[in-house]
Amino acid sequence: MKIKLQSKALLLLGSVLLSTSLLAKPPQVDITIKANELGSVLNKDIYGQFMEHLGRGIYEGIWVGEDSSIPNKDGFRLDVLTALKELQVPLLRWPGGCFADEYHWRDGIGPRESRPKTVNSNWGGVIEDNAFGTHEFFALAELLGADTYVNGNLGTGTPQEMADWLQYMTSDAPTTLVEQRKANGRDKPWKLHYFAIGNEAWGCGGNMTPEFYTNLYNQWASFAKTPQDNRPIMIASGGTDDSTIWAETLLKGVKPSWNLRMDGISHHYYTLPTGKWDVKGSSTGFNEELWFSTLEQTLRIEDFIKANVAIMDELDPEKKVGFYVDEWGTWYDVDKGTNPGFLYQQNSLRDAIVAGLNIHIFNRYADRVTMTNIAQMINVLQAMILTDKEKMVLTPTYHAFKMHVPFQDANYLPISLSSQPSYQLDGKTIPGLSASAARAKDGNVYLSLVNTQTSESVELNLSEVKQVTGWLLSDEKMDAHNTFDKPNNIAPVAFSAKVKKGKSVITVPAKSLLVLNLGKL
Ligand code: AHR
Repeated sequence: MKIKLQSKALLLLGSVLLSTSLLAKPPQVDITIKANELGSVLNKDIYGQFMEHLGRGIYEGIWVGEDSSIPNKDGFRLDVLTALKELQVPLLRWPGGCFADEYHWRDGIGPRESRPKTVNSNWGGVIEDNAFGTHEFFALAELLGADTYVNGNLGTGTPQEMADWLQYMTSDAPTTLVEQRKANGRDKPWKLHYFAIGNEAWGCGGNMTPEFYTNLYNQWASFAKTPQDNRPIMIASGGTDDSTIWAETLLKGVKPSWNLRMDGISHHYYTLPTGKWDVKGSSTGFNEELWFSTLEQTLRIEDFIKANVAIMDELDPEKKVGFYVDEWGTWYDVDKGTNPGFLYQQNSLRDAIVAGLNIHIFNRYADRVTMTNIAQMINVLQAMILTDKEKMVLTPTYHAFKMHVPFQDANYLPISLSSQPSYQLDGKTIPGLSASAARAKDGNVYLSLVNTQTSESVELNLSEVKQVTGWLLSDEKMDAHNTFDKPNNIAPVAFSAKVKKGKSVITVPAKSLLVLNLGKL
């Protein structure tokens, strides 16, 4: 009996070894990039950022004030400012989020010492001293060279208050409001690129029905007037997750006219590892099951976009109205010991993979999805940057965004794979490899690759390429992350491969994001 068991065990061991050796040979995939079939422009604003009055997203995160001991330029901390400049942030959305629907813009102008103190009832009930307001927001955008997206207050404001804010920001006429702006230090109007009427009208923005909101949009947008030469793209608050009723109701119910525009409909989708709001899952220390489910959850966004785009294509075939995913990213249980209202979470390799997958999906729908905002830029949810007083770290998501800078305003290129490696766990399957290509403004073709699998690499055969150089972000650990003690624990490393007669074979490691410059094909 004992001998039998032993031989059984040997057999098992043999088969494990055999399967391991078989598995050790990575799947071979040929990739074809149609380098001359230029598709839609990937609007740079697809790579936009969101900053809300939430936790340490603004205060400490970027705004420390001129008198801070943290080195700063005009109140903006220099370390974060420098990192954001390197990221080439194309677009900033502000002031919320839920905060926007309780924000009275007049609280945030004029001498800081006399600005009113209010309560941030959405996020932790903390005192908001309004030190960061309209002038500070536009100053930051100008320092970064970023487009501006302001979210108006439909919840607790009035059409008059909104119209006044628009006039204050965009007008050059000699009105009392414009004189006030000048007295507050800004002579010329600012360039306002996007303006939204309310946020999440279905939830924190007022728990409305799509029909009720559509009527309000018609009314409020009619009075959201700006000079002809400084007209923002007008955005209506749309749905979330799998809902399509918001886009449908808005497109059927808003009839553009001389005083009414709707240029975009917003949509929000957050990636929760468990898919449940009560226990979402933690930012680090997770197992493979939660790695897999996070990626599975994030990939669902493609179905949601597809369903909305189908309705929009039917009701707006000329594609006049954009579908803006103006809040997306991972949302975990807050890190232990942090204020639950501040939504502070670590950010690991898994987040960079999530970012890569979402970017690939947005790129595929770039004729309709022309703007998105990851939530949020600093210290909140899936952040680019984390700070702890005077310390700062760049997250894997920061690196993922930086690696994709060449995709900003590039032309989408179709690609095909000879086969799709699949990643299977507990009877579920997701794609093992995701890819997206574009011809950048510099004429080079860039290829972005994500290997979602935790232990399998993929061997990719490239043809008709000129060069293979780029950046690889990967790690042994699924939750590799940077801390204030080890700020460079995970960062991209330079990658290159030989090219012979236009062909190259590269290994895309497990759990990796790889962005390659293939030259001027
Ligand atoms: O990003 C955090 C919050 O998520 C936003 O304030 C809100 O719009 C969404 O529910």
